[in-house]
Amino acid sequence: MYQARTPPLASRLPNVGTTIFTVMSALAAECGAVNLGQGFPDFHCDPALVEHVHAAMQEGLNQYPPMAGVPALRQAVAAKIAALHGRRYDADREITITAGATQAILTAVLCCVHPGDEVVVLEPCYDSYAPNVELAGGTVVRVPLTPGTFRPDFERIAAALGPRTRAIIVNTPHNPAAVVWTRAEMQRLAELLAPTDVLLIADEVYEHMVFDGGEHVSAAAIPELAARAFVVSSFGKTFHVTGWKVGSVAAPAALTAEFRKVHQFNVFTVNTPMQHGLARYLADPAPYLDLAAFYQRKRDLFRAGLAASRLRLLPCEGSYFQSVDYSAVSDLPEAEFCQWLTREIGVAAIPMSAFYEGGFEQHIARLCFAKRDETLQQALDRLARL
Ligand SMILES: Cc1ncc(COP(=O)(O)O)c(C=O)c1O
Repeated sequence: MYQARTPPLASRLPNVGTTIFTVMSALAAECGAVNLGQGFPDFHCDPALVEHVHAAMQEGLNQYPPMAGVPALRQAVAAKIAALHGRRYDADREITITAGATQAILTAVLCCVHPGDEVVVLEPCYDSYAPNVELAGGTVVRVPLTPGTFRPDFERIAAALGPRTRAIIVNTPHNPAAVVWTRAEMQRLAELLAPTDVLLIADEVYEHMVFDGGEHVSAAAIPELAARAFVVSSFGKTFHVTGWKVGSVAAPAALTAEFRKVHQFNVFTVNTPMQHGLARYLADPAPYLDLAAFYQRKRDLFRAGLAASRLRLLPCEGSYFQSVDYSAVSDLPEAEFCQWLTREIGVAAIPMSAFYEGGFEQHIARLCFAKRDETLQQALDRLARL
């Protein structure tokens, strides 16, 4: 008789544990803290969007859509990019609908990175990038954004590019540092990559949250970059529906063909009624064009309140994150400070060090202002004690 036994498993991702977002959200719930840690809205999306999805379901649009996504949605995405960034992607061969940006980035990495290839990531960065590269058998080459400003350091990026570099992942507007790359910076990146075969994975999920009249310069808008780029967007971020997990990727036909090979045997396709609902909703550009003003008002309300505390505000050019330097308040390392802030002050934040492999300490915490005004005010009342 054999005993039931679970065979041991050699981890593909031995260094991955529970993410800081899960830890801080659990702690926030346990302490009754206002959760400004994890990046998602605590308000509803536009009811019109839900109505469009509901209508699609009632019309019976509930079976598998085409592998690359519902044509009407791909066409709407192509038209939006053409109007905003001046590049006309072919909806049939160059746009793919994905299960959020996270799946899009993983799929882009898996389709182009071979074992031994190097992928440059700029730290601090979104936590899925490095594990994605590791899953593909690639090597992560970490380049820090300039400490203090979090702007790209092109000398260091240039030094990191070598014969094994397959791709670089760039995120603008940036989570967690809220920096938006300028046109000159995007051009500089294009110059650096031009003599190489390095591909660009452009994570642009906060594309519609750029403040103070600034512009989001998409990789799609720079021909030398667009020719080598997977441009990644997220409807979840843009339309306050992070739980729907629907995103898109725009890439030249040759790159899209490889992308779809992996996508086909990964998720195959993305849920049908959401895609129809989003396609109909996109007919009106106002919701995404008005998003910057919507979040700028929240940013300004939040910053004005924080100015009364001893937290030093870092610039916030885009995204829905506000980072603060807490040196005047505490000597604690970032993770401990965020735990203390959650337990003692009742506001959950994320340590900036969580976005670095080596846990670089700068006395900075990230707060999310994608919250109802009442939530922000409640957090501000508590933070005023600092
Ligand atoms: C920089 C960045 N990229 C990608 C994502 C994931 O987007 P999605 O929810 O569409 O997978 C996030 C979400 O927090 C993010 O901050």
